[in-house]
Amino acid sequence: MSNNQFKNLRKLFEENLNEQLFEQEADIELLKPMMYSLQTGGKRLRPTLLLAVLYIYGSKKIKLGMKTAIALEYIHTYSLIHDDLPAMDNDDLRRGQPTSHKQFDEATAILAGDALLTEAFGLIAEDDQLKPKQRIQLIQELVSASGAHGMVAGQIKDLQSERREISLDELKEIHSKKTGRLFSFSIDAAAIILDLDADVRGELSEFGRHFGLAYQIHNDLKDLTGNQELTGKSGNSDEVNEKNTYPYLLTTKGAVEALADEISQINQIIKKLEKDTGKPFSFLKEFVSYIDVTQLAKELNV
Ligand code: IPE
Ligand code: IPE
Ligand code: MG
Ligand code: MG
Repeated sequence: MSNNQFKNLRKLFEENLNEQLFEQEADIELLKPMMYSLQTGGKRLRPTLLLAVLYIYGSKKIKLGMKTAIALEYIHTYSLIHDDLPAMDNDDLRRGQPTSHKQFDEATAILAGDALLTEAFGLIAEDDQLKPKQRIQLIQELVSASGAHGMVAGQIKDLQSERREISLDELKEIHSKKTGRLFSFSIDAAAIILDLDADVRGELSEFGRHFGLAYQIHNDLKDLTGNQELTGKSGNSDEVNEKNTYPYLLTTKGAVEALADEISQINQIIKKLEKDTGKPFSFLKEFVSYIDVTQLAKELNV
């Protein structure tokens, strides 16, 4: 499996998302901001990760996860729209474009987020390629990953710890909830759709947990570069908001080292998965290589 196949998965997701948006019923004043945020340049890592795990088990499996992958991108996109609001991180730029509340207005951004959040569950509920039991499991898992015990819980802790220092363990918990849980959902959803047994599910979840943490450390190191071209976001947002981050608690160098350590653990997990299942899990290295520690270290002069 190659880089090309990874790109193909992303392209396939993009086509299906556009088709879904074409069918999405909503008044134009709501559809416009929903489409604006969904269609402006996201990397689509979470849905592609879900599809990649399905692909590892056979290309015919991919289509079984497409609606769930779209639902996941809806939830992720809503979380970004709300994350950027003045009451939260107050950012003006997202995915290289003005944030939703800048492009439209605050009320529209809040409601576009609400619509994406709610519609996501409808997409899974009506997916008739899956057994009713699988749909319920996927919905339960998505509630747990994104709701009051998942992403939203991480977001409130993130906001409440602005302007005061917390411990590294507390920070890890915030990262695991606000970012890790949606990445874990990519993996857990694939396991539900593939009906995998508990051992493999456990190992896969380990991958999701470490990848989510690595991704947030990487995100905060990128923020530190202040390079808007690299991030598509307002530069140094974390510093302005006095956020707790790995670089803040451990120094930039310490954070780069912690990230390199996470990456090496992720690579070990991939190796073990490949050995235990006999399936080509090394395909997941495409996701790991997206987190380029060497380039970041260079950019940050450490
Ligand atoms: C940004 O996620 C927010 C985090 C949880 C780190 P992404 O970097 O995946 O954002 P998009 O979807 O590519 O814009
Ligand atoms: C975003 O975390 C997490 C969610 C949206 C759930 P951040 O606030 O750290 O991400 P960016 O830097 O705005 O993308
Ligand atoms: Mg935030
Ligand atoms: Mg933010």
